[in-house]
Amino acid sequence: MDYGMKNRLARIIKPEDGRTVMLAIDHGYFMGPTSGLENVDKSIAPLLGYADSLMLTRGILRSKIDAGVDIPVVLRVSGGTSILKDDLSDEDITVSMEDAIRLNASAVALSIFIGSKNEKQGIINLAKLVNKGYEYGIPVLAVTAVGREMSRDVRYLSLSVRIAAETGANIVKTYYCDGFERVVETCPVPIVVAGGKKTGERDALELAYNAVKYGAAGVDMGRNIFQSEKPVNMIKAVRAVVHGGLMPEEAYKKIYL
Ligand code: 5RP
Repeated sequence: MDYGMKNRLARIIKPEDGRTVMLAIDHGYFMGPTSGLENVDKSIAPLLGYADSLMLTRGILRSKIDAGVDIPVVLRVSGGTSILKDDLSDEDITVSMEDAIRLNASAVALSIFIGSKNEKQGIINLAKLVNKGYEYGIPVLAVTAVGREMSRDVRYLSLSVRIAAETGANIVKTYYCDGFERVVETCPVPIVVAGGKKTGERDALELAYNAVKYGAAGVDMGRNIFQSEKPVNMIKAVRAVVHGGLMPEEAYKKIYL
């Protein structure tokens, strides 16, 4: 791995502790005006100082994020479908690597849908993105997305994560599940865990705690932060769990409340 790739990865996963709190706000690329993201410049700006990186689309980056803010960008570069479709797996690469570089992306992100009817398309798109990524020194984060019909269990998630890593992804994003340590053990690259649909703050902190306890590098969390009643407190509490090793209940009481 050359210097550029290593340096960009180190901007996302902090070398001091090998951990990361990524803030995901890319939901609109298939969900449209997601609750909490209607007015990104107002709702997200106060959170940027507490996130290790920001995962989003180029449309929101160009129109809503102040270029003076020093935050590594993980650019969503896949899309092509919407929440109105039953099958969300029909995605392609939507952004050129040259545009990602123009936007000073520290990494690019693409979803794959293992077990879906577009499984091959996703894996080949990932392979193409990884090829381009190595040409320019840009890491690729593979999002192992779960279709409505797939179960989020250890068998399915470890299969998806391993395929993403074998295809060349530098970081893999997945969901937390019972037996998560097996997902981590069988994956040769760092894993980050998605928060999923909004739950209670205690549950989301517990998820972050368990994810890193069982070997994840951290979280790539969205709705459980920006849909929280106190988003700044919530991201601070997530940081305290992921980077500070605080117990979830302690982080909830001392930082969130
Ligand atoms: C969508 C994504 C989202 O970024 C991801 O789901 C993380 O956000 P959340 O914590 O809200 O699940 O990759 O495919």
